[in-house]
Amino acid sequence: MTHGTSQAPESDDKRLPRHIAVIMDGNGRWAKRRGLPRYAGHPVGVEAVRRIVEACVDRGISVLTLFAFSSENWRRPQKEVSLIMDLFIRSLKKEARRLHRNGVRLRVIGDRAAFSDKLQRQIGEVEALTAENSGLVLQVAANYGGRWDITQAARQMAEKVQAGEIDPEQIDESMLEDALSFADLDEPDLFIRTGGEKRISNFLLWQCAYTELYFTDILWPDFDGAALDAALTDFTNRQRRFGRTGEQVQDQAEAS
Ligand code: IPE
Ligand code: IPE
Ligand code: MG
Repeated sequence: MTHGTSQAPESDDKRLPRHIAVIMDGNGRWAKRRGLPRYAGHPVGVEAVRRIVEACVDRGISVLTLFAFSSENWRRPQKEVSLIMDLFIRSLKKEARRLHRNGVRLRVIGDRAAFSDKLQRQIGEVEALTAENSGLVLQVAANYGGRWDITQAARQMAEKVQAGEIDPEQIDESMLEDALSFADLDEPDLFIRTGGEKRISNFLLWQCAYTELYFTDILWPDFDGAALDAALTDFTNRQRRFGRTGEQVQDQAEAS
């Protein structure tokens, strides 16, 4: 278990986040402001993804988790959903080599069973190609929902009880955490949402229990390295207390 809910990182609150999670919002509005159909914003959003992945590699960030498609986004007009799926397939294909060259390890989190065979195959290929890379871990959340994640973890617990492997009394936070998506990685330190809305929209619910939240009005296609640096600066000026007092955290920082 490396999630470590409520665990204070070793004192230095001036350091950069290790794990950044982003809700990439505002593609539709970006396009509409230019008199284009809303789905025209998505390919421009992919360019912003490329920019931010490279910016995170340059800044030595360990994990970047991007919300690409929520379990609720199926409710969108069918035409937009299928354009997003096509774009997902094309982008994986197009970006695979560049990601690999940059030492990025790509993973997709979410319920991929709902995707076409072609898309599932494409995801599997890029994951396999980049599996041994030791640079940035890039997690793409697709058909992901925070409630889905907790539900699938609960189902795993129930199956273990039914199989007689564990007793219900043994279920604790750490066991449930181990059954969640990316239990092998640290929880996000910094959450960024672009596009002006101030909500979590069923993204990482459990894993963001102690994540620092940052909201910006910048629309996702306009998000760049400077915008990322503004979020990083904001983060470094925060004091993460994890339930302790500010004085305790200060003393701990001075002692180390
Ligand atoms: C985010 O941008 C991308 C996806 C949800 C796929 P939106 O498409 O939600 O953009 P807005 O919020 O309508 O501007
Ligand atoms: C959240 O954005 C999901 C992604 C960015 C993939 P939405 O645009 O779907 O969120 P709501 O509907 O405004 O809450
Ligand atoms: Mg939106």
